[in-house]
Amino acid sequence: AADNKAVMTEAHELLAKLYHHYLLNTEQGLKALEYLKNRGFTDEVITRFQIGFAPDSWDAATNFLKRRNFSLDLCEKAGLLGKRDFDGKPFDRFRSRIMFPIWDRNGKVIAFGGRILGSGEPKYLNSPETMLFNKGNNLYALHLSRPQMRKKEQAVLFEGYVDTIAAWRAGVENGVATLGTSLTEEQAKLLKRNVPSVVICYDSDNAGVEAAFRASAILQKAGVNVRIAQMPDGLDPDDYIQKFGTEKFNRDVIGASLTVMAFKIQYFRRGKNLNDEGERMLYIEEVIKEISRLSNAVEKDHYLRQLSDEFNLSLEALKQQQYLTAKQQK
Ligand code: CTP
Ligand code: MN
Ligand code: MN
Ligand code: MN
Ligand code: MN
Repeated sequence: AADNKAVMTEAHELLAKLYHHYLLNTEQGLKALEYLKNRGFTDEVITRFQIGFAPDSWDAATNFLKRRNFSLDLCEKAGLLGKRDFDGKPFDRFRSRIMFPIWDRNGKVIAFGGRILGSGEPKYLNSPETMLFNKGNNLYALHLSRPQMRKKEQAVLFEGYVDTIAAWRAGVENGVATLGTSLTEEQAKLLKRNVPSVVICYDSDNAGVEAAFRASAILQKAGVNVRIAQMPDGLDPDDYIQKFGTEKFNRDVIGASLTVMAFKIQYFRRGKNLNDEGERMLYIEEVIKEISRLSNAVEKDHYLRQLSDEFNLSLEALKQQQYLTAKQQK
């Protein structure tokens, strides 16, 4: 089994090189390269992240692997090839897609994410879970970002490939990504082993904000100090950098990240008219509920005082309410 794993990894490594070659040096790769350039990918990040292109072919990868004497059966198990239902004949799993290699923590390619050129479904086709690749145990680009993570004593957590790479271009070289799934406890522990603190920088749509709340709870449970970065108008980090540039991204997004509580407070305020008594009460209730979840008594006190000052409410009443809410939640 250990042998099989080494062979599978070797197949990934070679295919990554083949896809990279297709992107840079072939007629077919040109439209993919143009697509990437239009999206701001530079030669430097294309090389650094070993981005490639899987040609529009059912057998380019299959024949390449066959010529190199790989067992196609093993390559199918490794998620690189598909297998035709009716006769078991292998075929290329990734066709006409931009290829993002996914590495293990030592920098060996163990899976791929393939993005369609332009629009279409599925947008991303990823390797399945295999002997090599367990999604929930891996973070995209960890081995590339680890040096800067250690140096800055902080990691930035993104949703996907493109955001991690766009941020890198903007000088944020301590980014990693979960790949389309919610953050797992294993990933949180993996981060904790490398850095004391993480800035979550997810898409600013509702799904992204909800995912950021879930991720922050998991990270905090793992003992990581968490901040959340915010962008306006449903943009994702890559969109934001395209629109506003790298300097503003560093200053107004990463640099202006908030503690989880501060982020939640401004999130609850969003779209509410606090001069309206009903909406104000709802807001206060939401904040108290969050305060009651805090484990640190000094923090609790801090945010209760803040509420009391802002709305001219008695601190005693707020404390009482917080106590009742906490009891209800148990
Ligand atoms: N993802 C996935 N499969 C999908 C959609 C998304 O694996 N069908 C993962 C990818 O890792 C992707 C991340 O979830 O990078 C975030 O998804 P999304 O925001 O939809 O894509 P973007 O990264 O913004 O990609 P792009 O900018 O190219 O549209
Ligand atoms: Mn999204
Ligand atoms: Mn996105
Ligand atoms: Mn998009
Ligand atoms: Mn995007």
